[in-house]
Amino acid sequence: MRDIPGAWRRTAVGAGLVAADGSIRPTIFAEMSALAARTGAINLGQGFPDEDGPAAVLEVAREAIAGGANQYPPGRGIPDLLGAIAEHQERFYGLHVDPDRDVLVTAGATEALAAALLALLEDADDEVVVFEPYYDSYAAVAALAGARLVPVRLRWPDFQPDLDELRAAVSDRTRIILVNDPHNPTGAVFSPEVRAEVVRLAERHDAVIVTDEVYEHLVFDEPHVPIATLPGAWERTLTISSGGKTFSTTGWKIGWACGPAPLVDAVLAVKQFLTYVNGSPFQPAIATGLRLGDDFFRGIAQTLRTKRDLLGAGLRAAGLVVSTPAGSYFTVADAAALGATDAAEFCRALPERAGVVAIPLTAFTTPAHRDDYRSLVRFAACKRVDVLEEAASRLAHWA
Ligand SMILES: Cc1ncc(COP(=O)(O)O)c(C=O)c1O
Repeated sequence: MRDIPGAWRRTAVGAGLVAADGSIRPTIFAEMSALAARTGAINLGQGFPDEDGPAAVLEVAREAIAGGANQYPPGRGIPDLLGAIAEHQERFYGLHVDPDRDVLVTAGATEALAAALLALLEDADDEVVVFEPYYDSYAAVAALAGARLVPVRLRWPDFQPDLDELRAAVSDRTRIILVNDPHNPTGAVFSPEVRAEVVRLAERHDAVIVTDEVYEHLVFDEPHVPIATLPGAWERTLTISSGGKTFSTTGWKIGWACGPAPLVDAVLAVKQFLTYVNGSPFQPAIATGLRLGDDFFRGIAQTLRTKRDLLGAGLRAAGLVVSTPAGSYFTVADAAALGATDAAEFCRALPERAGVVAIPLTAFTTPAHRDDYRSLVRFAACKRVDVLEEAASRLAHWA
């Protein structure tokens, strides 16, 4: 494999998957899921729910297949979903979005992010500012686009960026400031000061803000605030989200990008040659989901908050120090008190020792910064209550 020429290598290098001998390693997610399967450990590694989402949403997909929605949908997405996304942005955030010009349906948030970076980055001097640790596709796609990643570190325990570090990272070379809020893997929700500084810096250096808001409805304290709602932000912000986390349909891969028409058109120009379109029968189902009542949206945040607390209690009982997340599926814990100095080694041993699988935070960082995160571990709380109870009990008894 390593001898095959081509740009693919850049993604592997970007994602830190090239071993010292030049071979390509599997991701830590694949490694840990395989370990869970082999040992029978509870998989709190990968972030996908183990329960179905709302029945009404699933039913629409079934009906759509039975009703013949099985061919290519329109390139931008079906009008019903475009309309539902626009309504959703208005209803929750007061954003006026033109469904025909300012919205694009994509194959998950992942495709929207990839198409946005490929569309907006031009040459090797272009820089993408990201908050580290980061969702692993960011570095891989920035590398594929041939651009430079400039990480701003989020530090234990609150994982808010230092504003001076953020200012130092953004320059006239910055094409994109990529903001994942609520944040995977840390569960942080950025402060109003951080959001405002992102907008100020983007204006000063004429950068585009690309947001990844896939956990927008999974926040535990304050309502979610999209950066696009800040004064001056809309015209330079591409807001990306998806239905996967909100409706527990991560396998459907229905995502979207919203923003001013020229930005959305730029993404469409690339996206149409990546997947062209996807998910005909799932698009009307996600439209139905986006129009569910407020009680549904309140309910999923409350349920996940309860799960977060359950998981947090188990981790504390095991002797880990926990950073309580304000949103997302995830909780980060510090295993230093248990003697861990290498989170990857700790996670490789955890299934045998405690019957639980987790992911080291170093999987989400550039190799040069791994030391800052060397004893930190990410656990997913998006599992059934009985599964989390069993995980918490295993952790507590292992200590
Ligand atoms: C921060 C973040 N962005 C994007 C995604 C992927 O979203 P989708 O499945 O809609 O492509 C994930 C999934 O784990 C995520 O955590």
